[in-house]
Amino acid sequence: MSSTPTPERAEKLHEGKAKIVYATSDPHMIIQYFKDDATAFDAKKRGTIVNKGVINNRIASHLFELLGESGVTTHFVAKLSDREMLCRRLQIILVEVVVRNVVAGSLAKRLGMEEGASLPRPIVEHYYKRDDLSDPPINLDHIQVLNLATSEEMLHIRREALKVNEFLVKYLDQREIRLVDFKLEFGRTTGGGAGAVLLGDEISPDTCRLWDKKTHEKMDKDRFRRDLGRIEESYEEVARRICGS
Ligand code: TMP
Ligand code: ASP
Repeated sequence: MSSTPTPERAEKLHEGKAKIVYATSDPHMIIQYFKDDATAFDAKKRGTIVNKGVINNRIASHLFELLGESGVTTHFVAKLSDREMLCRRLQIILVEVVVRNVVAGSLAKRLGMEEGASLPRPIVEHYYKRDDLSDPPINLDHIQVLNLATSEEMLHIRREALKVNEFLVKYLDQREIRLVDFKLEFGRTTGGGAGAVLLGDEISPDTCRLWDKKTHEKMDKDRFRRDLGRIEESYEEVARRICGS
């Protein structure tokens, strides 16, 4: 770390479903504040997962740090407190990138495939990040026509998403967790080297499907979506396996 002082938290820029984004005294940095609020199905279902913000910040900070060391550039700068993460400021690209290793969720439904079947290779999907449209699936042609990202940016994003997948599959497997699928968001830097595309947002049980390798028990937000109970305990267990106690 350099000796530059940590930027001070300033005004609220945006409040999302699971996080609040604050400006800081450095125009090229933001603070992500992790909340306990949980939503599903276009926020038609709402609830609270006690301590989720603390757990997700812990998991996401840990994984971003490891990804950085393994050559994936992310917005992560430092974990500031239980619920606060200091990040490079990004202009978020409105494409949600989903990587799948195992059939589940909307893939099972849409293509009539059996939940739990391993895919012969990872599938990368794109969704338009638009709550008012319920995040519809889009392809590279839609992304071009809507001017969401250039084809060079999308090529870079695909490579990075697959690198993240390769790293996470191995890392989680060693911790008795099967990585079924997950969602990533990318953005363009605003400061020095403006326009570089980095991994943003978070990686946590809110944005991944994580199954116990032996029992196949769900350890992620599906416990909330499907009212499976023991939500807090599952998030805690994921943190314990990923970060240690
Ligand atoms: P899906 O099967 O519902 O399309 O979800 C795929 C993955 O993306 C799963 O790990 C959950 C994650 N996801 C989000 O992080 N945010 C969302 O809004 C949705 C729908 C899925
Ligand atoms: N968080 C999303 C929403 O509230 C959906 C989900 O993760 O299931 O719409």
